[in-house]
Amino acid sequence: MKDNVVVITGASKGIGAELARQLAAKGAKLVLAARNLPELEAVAVECRASGAAVVAVKADVAVERDCQAIVAGAVLAFGRVDALVNNAGMSMWARFEEIRDLSVLERIMQVNYMGAVYCTRHALPYLRETGGRLVGISSLAGRTGVPTRTGYAASKHAMTGFFDSLRIELEGSGVSVTMIYPGFVATGIRENATGPDGLPILVSPVREGEVMSVQDCARRIVRAVERREREVVMTARGRMGLWLKLLAPSLVDRIARRAIERGQ
Ligand SMILES: NC(=O)c1ccc[n+]([C@@H]2O[C@H](COP(=O)([O-])OP(=O)(O)OC[C@H]3O[C@@H](n4cnc5c(N)ncnc54)[C@H](OP(=O)(O)O)[C@@H]3O)[C@@H](O)[C@H]2O)c1
Repeated sequence: MKDNVVVITGASKGIGAELARQLAAKGAKLVLAARNLPELEAVAVECRASGAAVVAVKADVAVERDCQAIVAGAVLAFGRVDALVNNAGMSMWARFEEIRDLSVLERIMQVNYMGAVYCTRHALPYLRETGGRLVGISSLAGRTGVPTRTGYAASKHAMTGFFDSLRIELEGSGVSVTMIYPGFVATGIRENATGPDGLPILVSPVREGEVMSVQDCARRIVRAVERREREVVMTARGRMGLWLKLLAPSLVDRIARRAIERGQ
């Protein structure tokens, strides 16, 4: 990835921030986007300390103009875009019937799905010029149903449909599409997940010490992007689940229910 211009959305914390650190160490030029500019700048400072050129762009990916500005920032600073990592995302932790205001589901769809669509739309002309890389950070919830995640799973399934279709349209263009399906990763996403009242749940119901580390997750993403892999299903349980779903889908439903009940 040396000297590649990589745009990462949702780079102020969690997986996006760690991706930025690891790509900085590999000599990439980075364009980091998120809403919280001070947090984003702190990640940028760490990346610059490893010698990377970094631009931080304050942006809400739910707003198309902001996504256009992210790409414009990359082109202005570096003159090209080699990779776009659609990582920005938010989650929920509430059963559908407990949700009071359905705007929670609309917001999740707008951020997780339309955010990726907007950024892709504006980056694609530049990615075509460089034979670049498109990356979607989905979730195992993008491949199977998960209780308490109706809206989140829907948004991640939507990403899968969008990027799997776009991959076919881009055949022969030189632009690759890599889809990433992580299981639980130890970040703050669950504390910030929206509860039934529309507010963050604040305490993670997951045993965070027992799930995949953010460093490990980012390492696997970087390797997949370097190799232009089609998709990575990140856990053995996830890979097994995809096969099982063909044979015994209700068993996979039970596994998903148990994972949520046990928090691991
Ligand atoms: N952690 C997991 O267990 C897990 C599992 C499967 C998939 N994933 C996926 O991995 C991706 C990263 O998650 P994470 O675990 O690193 O979560 P995180 O620690 O909560 O980080 C989420 C990032 O997205 C940004 N973001 C949220 N809403 C945004 C918006 N409207 N516009 C721009 N940026 C926004 C946040 O920055 P600001 O708040 O500063 O905007 C933050 O940088 C997400 O797409 C998530 O669905 C995570």
